[in-house]
Amino acid sequence: MRVILLGPPGAGKGTQAARLAAKLGVPQVATGDILRMARASDSALGRKVAGYMDRGDLVPDELVNEVALDRLRQKDAARGFVLDGYPRTIDQAKTLQSFLDDKGTKLDAVIKFMVTKDEIVKRLSGRRVCPKCNTVYHMIADPPENDEICDFDGTPLVQREDDKEEAVARRLVEYGAQTRPLYDLYENEAPFIEIDAMGSSDEVFDRLTKALGTLT
Ligand code: AP5
Repeated sequence: MRVILLGPPGAGKGTQAARLAAKLGVPQVATGDILRMARASDSALGRKVAGYMDRGDLVPDELVNEVALDRLRQKDAARGFVLDGYPRTIDQAKTLQSFLDDKGTKLDAVIKFMVTKDEIVKRLSGRRVCPKCNTVYHMIADPPENDEICDFDGTPLVQREDDKEEAVARRLVEYGAQTRPLYDLYENEAPFIEIDAMGSSDEVFDRLTKALGTLT
């Protein structure tokens, strides 16, 4: 299955993408994660994108398109993928479409996560991540066993730089200006499903899998 998860920052795309990818047996392709790994390894790409990410701005299309298509060309993505955080602009959506056309494949579903602004703020302000193994926690909804310490490797958890108030505000503006227009595009081009992303992670996953089940 080839699925795109779309939604505002903090809507729970990454949480659900990991679960869905495991269920479908396809890779989760998250451009945010790939870019954060590039930063952590201090690669040339990482140095180029750091400023954009910390401010909450989108990384330029030509860089993100290259990163995303490189990942989609890998063998494990031939059978399908769950795209999390890509595409996020019209240019990226067109680039992805050309890639799929060249391969003679198409999208099976585009899922829009619906969540209130209050909930976005709660989810982002409570998020903590392990800088070593990248496990994502939420201090209220999904806390670690010991205060702010990773359950898997004992590393102190950190807050993402772009989860701080100013960057969150910027990310929401970028989402409204650059990503929202994709909804109109996909409403006419692919099976387009709106999911109520409020409630627990299990409840959202249940809705997601039921909605996808209606397509098969
Ligand atoms: P990226 O990492 O993709 O950020 P995002 O899209 O803003 O999404 P988030 O990771 O913030 O949220 P999410 O929806 O995945 O929520 P999550 O599941 O973690 O991108 C970061 C940056 O990289 C961008 O700003 C940009 O600079 C750059 N970038 C990446 N892709 C790009 C692209 N295509 N083009 C240009 N630039 C790009 O959940 C959030 C929190 O809520 C967690 O703590 C989680 O535990 C908790 N939670 C999840 N579900 C629930 C639930 N049901 N109930 C309660 N809590 C929940």
